[in-house]
Amino acid sequence: MADLKNDKIPVHVSMIMDGNGRWAKERGKERVYGHFEGVESVRACVETAVEEGVRYLSVFAFSEENWNRPQDEVVALMGLMVKAMAAEMEKLNRNGVRFMVLGNRERLGDDLNRTIDECMDMTKDNETLTLIVFLSYSGKWDILQAARRYAADMIAHPEKREELETMGVEGFDKYLVTAGIPDPDLIIRTSGEHRISNYLLWQGAYSEYFFTDVLWPDFRKQEFRQALETYSKRDRRFGKVK
Ligand code: FPP
Repeated sequence: MADLKNDKIPVHVSMIMDGNGRWAKERGKERVYGHFEGVESVRACVETAVEEGVRYLSVFAFSEENWNRPQDEVVALMGLMVKAMAAEMEKLNRNGVRFMVLGNRERLGDDLNRTIDECMDMTKDNETLTLIVFLSYSGKWDILQAARRYAADMIAHPEKREELETMGVEGFDKYLVTAGIPDPDLIIRTSGEHRISNYLLWQGAYSEYFFTDVLWPDFRKQEFRQALETYSKRDRRFGKVK
């Protein structure tokens, strides 16, 4: 167990998993080998989240921009996702993990969408941990699709016009793909990059950020616990004076 000050456990931790390619290159291997090892890190983080009482763990597995990577890497990554889901789902289900995929699912293939639906359906009533995989996701895309659906509601429901026009931030939250999911308390990015890379732009407005030089395939239990300890010492004020 991590040595956490005041038991300050974040409800939702999100991971920008970066550095798989470099990890593989350092070992003279193909980039996909790094992604393969990266799945082991996801597994270690899921176990740690359950042990430490984190309720939501999300991982940025594939961005809208990642579609522009070489085709063979895209195909290999999608294949890896299907394989990882098929291999892990029974165990995740037994351990009370609810599994979700969020993102632009229209761009995913039929096989992957079918596997995702099966996994989400199988685990939908689990309550120990929610594991969210952001797939074909970007923050700007999410805000745009939310704005489109908001505008469509305005047109389709003239009787709700005043309610929609005056709704606050929480009202708009419901149009994002993360509706119903608490905003991330902690966002971790590995591999020494200090960027948000079009990730949870709206939802990360008041997140704490933790950057580490560790490459994602090396980010395991000890590294996750270290991040949780750092988080527990942060003073969150949400723009107010304490
Ligand atoms: C970034 O490293 C990593 C990715 C774009 C893919 C991450 C995906 C996984 C680890 C698979 C997860 C699977 C499941 C089922 C959740 P990079 O390739 O950008 O590394 P680099 O910056 O060193 O090139």
